[in-house]
Amino acid sequence: MKTKSGGLEGVVVGDTAISTVGKEGVGLTYRGYSIFDLAEQCSFEEVAYLLLYGKLPNAQELAAYQKKLQDLRPLPKDLKTVLELIPASAHPMDVLRTGCSMLGNLEPAEKRSIPELANRLLATTPGMLLYWYHFHHKGNSINLENAEDSSLAGYFLHLLYQQKAPEEFRRAFDVSLILYAEHELNASTFASRVTTSTESDYYSAIVSGIGTLRGPLHGGANEAAMQLIERFKTVNEAEKSIRELLSQKAKIMGFGHRVYKSSDPRSDIIKVWSRTLAEKSKDSHLYPISERIEEIMREEKKLFPNLDFYSASVYHFCGIPTFLFTPIFVLARISGWSAHIMEQRENNRLIRPEANYIGPSERTLVALAQRGHA
Ligand code: COA
Repeated sequence: MKTKSGGLEGVVVGDTAISTVGKEGVGLTYRGYSIFDLAEQCSFEEVAYLLLYGKLPNAQELAAYQKKLQDLRPLPKDLKTVLELIPASAHPMDVLRTGCSMLGNLEPAEKRSIPELANRLLATTPGMLLYWYHFHHKGNSINLENAEDSSLAGYFLHLLYQQKAPEEFRRAFDVSLILYAEHELNASTFASRVTTSTESDYYSAIVSGIGTLRGPLHGGANEAAMQLIERFKTVNEAEKSIRELLSQKAKIMGFGHRVYKSSDPRSDIIKVWSRTLAEKSKDSHLYPISERIEEIMREEKKLFPNLDFYSASVYHFCGIPTFLFTPIFVLARISGWSAHIMEQRENNRLIRPEANYIGPSERTLVALAQRGHA
């Protein structure tokens, strides 16, 4: 038997120049910049530019990039028709999976650069998601070109609310997009790179990423965390229930991480926004409950919140329906996936691991006629 690593834990499969996760120092950097500096000083568009083009834009380049993304927002008519055909009962992650796939049929990837393809998806995914949402859940066919906002954050919230977003919500959302943009070889990025390694196309790699992100052990954790937090009416009820769940060996969504061992730097940043928005909305309920759950998880399991835990309450305070939380992760991560697709192509080798065989040993095949009756 060859040595194996369950879940590929600790296995290094290649080199990357895109980000560091859990390394000495701040732990998380994008192309050498600390996540704390990026979240404090940059917009999501600057970070997407950094990931796709390898450097931070200057003011002129940023203005041109924002304009480019704005111009790329309109959706093809046939894509809108498909969005109208997807049932209201669908999960919005499946809407994005189908929407990206349909766009790939309408606008094939050939002869277009990865940044060009990524920019089109960054510009269109908010519209795909919220066109479907308003059409099926609010009974309106919204105009995607009415929202003038130059940022993805402002555009998303404007489409959702059907009016301009308050600045505090826009910035909290913008920061969450920065934090969700990239994270080295997480499961969905690895899935995108596996697809890319077969010399498949850009859209297939993105759709692989979306499908992988959907699960609650990965991107789906922010929705699952919200469903957990809002179950409780009081801090005491939360405490009692979390202790019970842990005694039954249940997993508490939004806690723990494969690579980080003592904390997730992204959680420190988003938690401040959760507290700020809780104070602004005079919440005396969700934030204290979240903090109590955090304390119990440290006390009982030595586990810390990951990005998904406090992102849940930030999105909730912004008035975003819970089932849109994981799709927001997609909107941001398209930038990171795309950077990895480029990097994989630059130095490609088919990704094809092996398994130790534990099935029956070789045996004689009995012809169909001789196999008897059930
Ligand atoms: N709640 C309760 N226990 C947890 C836990 C959680 N969120 N995360 C890990 N543990 C426990 C496991 O039960 C296990 O305990 P055991 O050794 O007594 O069996 C131990 O910690 C190791 O967990 P494991 O699932 O093997 O770690 P992993 O590296 O394979 O998984 C995650 C990492 C992120 C999948 C895992 O921490 C998890 O499921 N978290 C919840 C989902 C989540 O928030 N995902 C988003 C990640 S950014």
